[in-house]
Amino acid sequence: MTAQPRENQASAVETAGAIAYVRRMRIAIASDHAAIDLKTELRDWLIEQGHEVADLGPETNDSVDYPDFGYKLASVIADGTAERGVALCGSGLGISMSANRNPAVRCALVSEPLSASLAREHNDANCIAMGARLTGSDMAKACLTAFLQTEFADSLPDGTGRHQRRVDKLSNPEF
Ligand code: RB5
Repeated sequence: MTAQPRENQASAVETAGAIAYVRRMRIAIASDHAAIDLKTELRDWLIEQGHEVADLGPETNDSVDYPDFGYKLASVIADGTAERGVALCGSGLGISMSANRNPAVRCALVSEPLSASLAREHNDANCIAMGARLTGSDMAKACLTAFLQTEFADSLPDGTGRHQRRVDKLSNPEF
């Protein structure tokens, strides 16, 4: 079955037999050498769905340092050029740690869709990280779909404000 977008909605994504409707977004994606193949696959898949995707590199699989790409990704999220970020390295650990050094970034390292969805619902995550050596491309797409289709609970009319209060504390820590 071919999934078709509804009027005024973005892409219809079919993942694991379920069809999800996802608003079109400005998404930046970055990796290190260990995740370049997954980056290319996810980038092209997101573009096919109609998203505006900025690929921040790298362009070859020559060895690079993940902080360089994590910081680059964080800066386009922080300045609003990208609404969401996708951060990939071998384990997802190094690039998520790098992106999270920027206080504007809430980057969630996930390996299954429930965490991807909760990262949005409770934590208003604006960046998802995955490990290309640990997570296959089908699972990565399922995680990304959950991440893109889930709204932050406190952006909804029945939000209580408690998640927003906690998220605010992430940017303004009082140790
Ligand atoms: C590169 O070998 C590897 O260390 C990197 O991709 C990542 O897994 C680090 O956290």
